[in-house]
Amino acid sequence: MKTLDDFDFKNKKVLVRIDLNSPVVKGRVKLSGKFIEHAKTLRELRNKKAKIVVLAHQGRPKEEDFLSLKQHARLLNKFVKVKFVNDTIGRKAVNEIKKLKKGKILLLENVRYLKDEFKLNKKNKIVKVLEPLFDIFVNDAFSVSHRNQTSIVGFKNLKKCAGRVMEQELKNLEKIKKFKKPCVYILGGAKPEDDIKLVKGNVKILSCGLFGQVCLISSRYKLGGQNKYLLKKGYRANSKLAKLIKKYKIEMPIDFGVKIKGRRKDKMLNNFPVKEEIFDIGPETVEKYVKIIKKAKTIFMKGTAGYCEERQFRRGTRKILRAIPKNAYSLLGGGHLSSAIKSLGIKKSKFGYVSLSGGALIAYLAGEKLPGVEILKSGKSGI
Ligand code: 3PG
Repeated sequence: MKTLDDFDFKNKKVLVRIDLNSPVVKGRVKLSGKFIEHAKTLRELRNKKAKIVVLAHQGRPKEEDFLSLKQHARLLNKFVKVKFVNDTIGRKAVNEIKKLKKGKILLLENVRYLKDEFKLNKKNKIVKVLEPLFDIFVNDAFSVSHRNQTSIVGFKNLKKCAGRVMEQELKNLEKIKKFKKPCVYILGGAKPEDDIKLVKGNVKILSCGLFGQVCLISSRYKLGGQNKYLLKKGYRANSKLAKLIKKYKIEMPIDFGVKIKGRRKDKMLNNFPVKEEIFDIGPETVEKYVKIIKKAKTIFMKGTAGYCEERQFRRGTRKILRAIPKNAYSLLGGGHLSSAIKSLGIKKSKFGYVSLSGGALIAYLAGEKLPGVEILKSGKSGI
């Protein structure tokens, strides 16, 4: 796989795919490690006197966090100077790209605003408009490389290489594959469909976040208000998961933090169903999990244990993170988990590596081939 070391970037027009997709609270995009890390790749290209144009996304169509990248530009500007263009492939964007000077950086509008981001065919407008304007395509977005989407796999005629974040993620993910026992996987976050791919023997699985709840409803527990929330999100009891829970003795939460009149209250699972929604694992679950974590030699944690966007529901995640022994190799992932580590004020250096990825990390660890990584290896395109 080629890297930034393999090309002379001086005066070259470089299209860089980064991942700025971040948690959004009340319409405000939260600062995450993604901004800090991708800025390093962009600064390096700027120092090498390239003309840099950045593609990124926020959210998915129809979801609440599907937003313009205007706020992201402001956040990215704290680490590297970029100019935001509220257009991606229209006349405005093309004009700005054409007049771009060396050492300058443009951030284009959310590439997922364009339907062709999701349509990989020969008539693809994103490829048609952008490809002729560039010399080199840099994929720095390991965290989106599990997606067969245009901005990841579409640019077949451009020379390609990995950015620094892509390189760094791949190097550290290789390390967890060679784990020492006992190995513990703490699987949480908001995308249970990702966690399920990682369930396997040889490792102890502690479920939390939405995954913990889906494990419980799959084991016939009734959660009440949270069942409705899960259903709204498309998560139902899953018979395949029920079998895996038994086979691999997956640990499940035994109590939860719920919200009553805006305040946290912890309730034992025995007292469910309750009408309130769940926002965190409770203290008894934490105690049970911490005992297991402290004995581990290798730890992988994906996603948060609860809703860390609200301070009162960070408790479960904080206690689990604090319990991770320094002398174990730990890999932490899931975009929201790295934001949580930051807001909890825990030093990243305590851990082996904090990945910026969620779904891509899962796919990679589950042994799947990532389209965006494969294309960098082969130099071809996905169209
Ligand atoms: C992420 O935050 O995990 C990446 O940006 C991928 O987002 P997606 O799951 O919406 O493709």
